[in-house]
Amino acid sequence: MPSPSTPLLPLPRTPAVSGVLETLAFFRDPDFARGRFEQYGDVFETTLLGQRTVFLRGSQAVADLFAQAEAVEGWWPESVRVLLGPLSLANRNGADHKARRRVVGQLFTNAALKRYGPGIVALVNELCEELRAAGGAVALAPRLRRFAFQVIATTVLGLDGADREALFSDFETWSRGLFSFPLALPGSPYARALRARGRLLERLAAVLAQAQAAAAAGAPLAAGGLDLLAGGLDEAGLPLADDDVVEQLLLLLFAGYETTASSLSCLLLTLLQHPAELAWLQEELATLSWPPLPGEELGAYDPARAPRLDAVVKEVMRLTPPVGGFFRRTREAIGLAGVAVPADRVVQVSIAASHRHGAAGEDLELFRPQRHLDGGTTVGLLPFGGGERVCLGKALAELEIRLLAVGVLRQLTLTLEPGQDLTLAVMPSPTPRDGLRVRAAAGPIAMNRRS
Ligand code: HEM
Repeated sequence: MPSPSTPLLPLPRTPAVSGVLETLAFFRDPDFARGRFEQYGDVFETTLLGQRTVFLRGSQAVADLFAQAEAVEGWWPESVRVLLGPLSLANRNGADHKARRRVVGQLFTNAALKRYGPGIVALVNELCEELRAAGGAVALAPRLRRFAFQVIATTVLGLDGADREALFSDFETWSRGLFSFPLALPGSPYARALRARGRLLERLAAVLAQAQAAAAAGAPLAAGGLDLLAGGLDEAGLPLADDDVVEQLLLLLFAGYETTASSLSCLLLTLLQHPAELAWLQEELATLSWPPLPGEELGAYDPARAPRLDAVVKEVMRLTPPVGGFFRRTREAIGLAGVAVPADRVVQVSIAASHRHGAAGEDLELFRPQRHLDGGTTVGLLPFGGGERVCLGKALAELEIRLLAVGVLRQLTLTLEPGQDLTLAVMPSPTPRDGLRVRAAAGPIAMNRRS
């Protein structure tokens, strides 16, 4: 951050007035922010649907934003805010927010993750078995979505089969409303999502009540981790009310499912498109056994034991971050990378653009995982955000990704089906347009591609 005596530069602005065309471009053009960063610099303002929005990229601007946490607060578009609900920690700030992060964070401690490890390994093996038995081409992306949903719904929340299926379908309806226009016209995605929200909350409340009853009766550990939440205290030191906890559980489904599913699809797609890097990774995987020894799921493929896998995951998330950006709102005027940003602005941190913005001459458009091992990059990675609102489920997501990558790549040969669209739809998270159709056979993944 510049010293207080350095005068701040005025905030560059696009000429947008109503923001209608700008909003259309924002939704249609994946390079919307990048072109404007090239034109206006690392911090600029435009108008999206009447809302003045500041975009920023790059390590300096991001570090300045995190360093001024008191001057900003969380912000979400209205549709997301309403569908998550007023109690959700995503919609809270200050002590209120911190207390709920502490409570929910109990689901993601090392001890909790150790508990989930065997369940995730079983789900990976189930998926591999299903793919092997399919006998023809299968769309992998939807199966990875289901896998990611099962991890959060079964392994973390402890839902059984029937509850999970009902929840899955309501959840898909709810998600479709998230980035829609927030007007509840009959039959609109937003109206359907609001009704689905009601059902989801009821179901989650019932699951929480069951977990509490089992814990009170001293019954053996229920599946999942909900017993870990018992006794969680709010900012005043009082137990959280059940409806409060239930809204946090809904947030976990939202935050933890689409994102992880996207990272898994992009990981396998990218490896299948880059046979040389896949072969490089396979050399390391050949030294690791699958499944991990019971009780060692957490550390078996960690960055110390599987540095190439770690580098590949980092590089995939650099180029195709599951979350392209996150928001804040300024309560006061602040300076970001030497530029003055007024109070009451929505700020969007562009993760995707930051990940491709480094020192002059860096080959940042290329998929080159080795850059994370040879100290060859200056890019600050922030796929999980940072500061006071850094992703709460980062450790779970990383565990899930490592276990799935090793389990699939050690057990299956995957081949891309020819003639499919492998480009990515970017909203809400990057996913191959044709669903990533592959054929699977037993044995380590093939080095050849068919398209
Ligand atoms: C590859 C997978 C994932 C990615 C890339 C990801 C990324 C992010 C990002 C960028 C944020 C916003 C941070 C900010 O506003 O500064 C976030 C927040 C959050 N994530 Fe994740 N996430 C992933 C998986 C998960 C999982 C598995 C869970 C839990 C089950 C989870 C729970 C959360 C929660 C609760 C928040 C809100 C934190 C807050 O507002 O304080 N995420 N995540």
